[in-house]
Amino acid sequence: MRIAVLTGGTSSERDVAIASAVQVISALRSREHDVGVVDTARGYIPPHEEPSLLPSAVGIAPPSQESLAALERGLLMSGLGDLPVIRQADLVFLALHGGWGEDGTIQAILDVIGVPYTGSGPLGSALALDKDISKRLFRQAGVPTADWLMAPQPVHEVERRLGWPVVVKPSHEGSTVGLTVVQEPADLERAVAEAGSYDPEVMIEAFIPGRELTVGMLAERALTVGEIIPRHDIFDYECKYTPGMSEEIFPAEVASGVVEQCQHLAVAAHRTLKLGGYSRVDFRLTARGEPLCLEVNTLPGLTSTSLLPQSALACGIDFAELCEQICRQSLAAVGTRRGEPASS
Ligand SMILES: Nc1ncnc2c1ncn2[C@@H]1O[C@H](COP(=O)(O)OP(=O)(O)O)[C@@H](O)[C@H]1O
Ligand SMILES: [Mg+2]
Repeated sequence: MRIAVLTGGTSSERDVAIASAVQVISALRSREHDVGVVDTARGYIPPHEEPSLLPSAVGIAPPSQESLAALERGLLMSGLGDLPVIRQADLVFLALHGGWGEDGTIQAILDVIGVPYTGSGPLGSALALDKDISKRLFRQAGVPTADWLMAPQPVHEVERRLGWPVVVKPSHEGSTVGLTVVQEPADLERAVAEAGSYDPEVMIEAFIPGRELTVGMLAERALTVGEIIPRHDIFDYECKYTPGMSEEIFPAEVASGVVEQCQHLAVAAHRTLKLGGYSRVDFRLTARGEPLCLEVNTLPGLTSTSLLPQSALACGIDFAELCEQICRQSLAAVGTRRGEPASS
């Protein structure tokens, strides 16, 4: 298969996307696919330049907003269809996280160009990236989720409706960027301003003490439930991307009822957001053993040690096989995605 791996992007998760791409590229090549690489900010990357342009390590903090803005000026997204490596591909593999890669924009551009791609379509991607809309849909589908309000809110209203602590976060970011746990009223305003520097829409959510669980979804099937034990209080950027900063246990050591419930809720969350292909559904498990859905990631990390690959491996699907199944399954779904023209 001719596969164009699309990576980079100009979101805070740029480095993470490139780390995923490096491993996806080598997995797909190990399966004899003909793989070309495109960075949405820099264009086609010829094979001899891949080693220098695709660093595989993720720093302890996201790239600065200034460096991302500089890359954004060179962005060639609307010119993607002019690249032979994209036009001639049988499939575009999306190794992007956050921003236009995850919010449905790239998916819509690829629909217009008419080339199939991995994962969810524009609608599902946009729904899942919006934490406020996602949670409304979770509630409607019977998927439990913590109470929340959208900023701005008077402090007394936050206190009355949610109590302390609360979690303040941008509604459309990822990788825990711009997120603060607010313990007391005096710190609310600063946290809302911090999240607001990333996103005009800021969510204030009740803090859920407890454990953190995650479930991979592949082709409408829930994979193995895992537990994440970060070294910090929350699963922040550093814990997510620094080896040794979190412990990840697959399968999670929780009661079998909790496993079944998470898998059932993961399928419901994936469906209610109209997702396709694959995703990863994250939960907090309260002290009373109730899973509350945090969010669904439509383009979760795809290095071999990322959570979805670990969830798949625990079901006997190794990394190269996971990449292969994502490709095959995305091609099989062509034409069934809403908003996508039927194949000619
Ligand atoms: N309401 C909450 N209660 C407790 N911890 C939370 C809550 N919301 C987020 N967190 C912590 O912050 C991390 C990132 O939050 P999440 O909502 O998944 O945003 P992101 O899209 O940045 O990953 C979670 O994995 C969890 O550790
Ligand atoms: Mg998350």
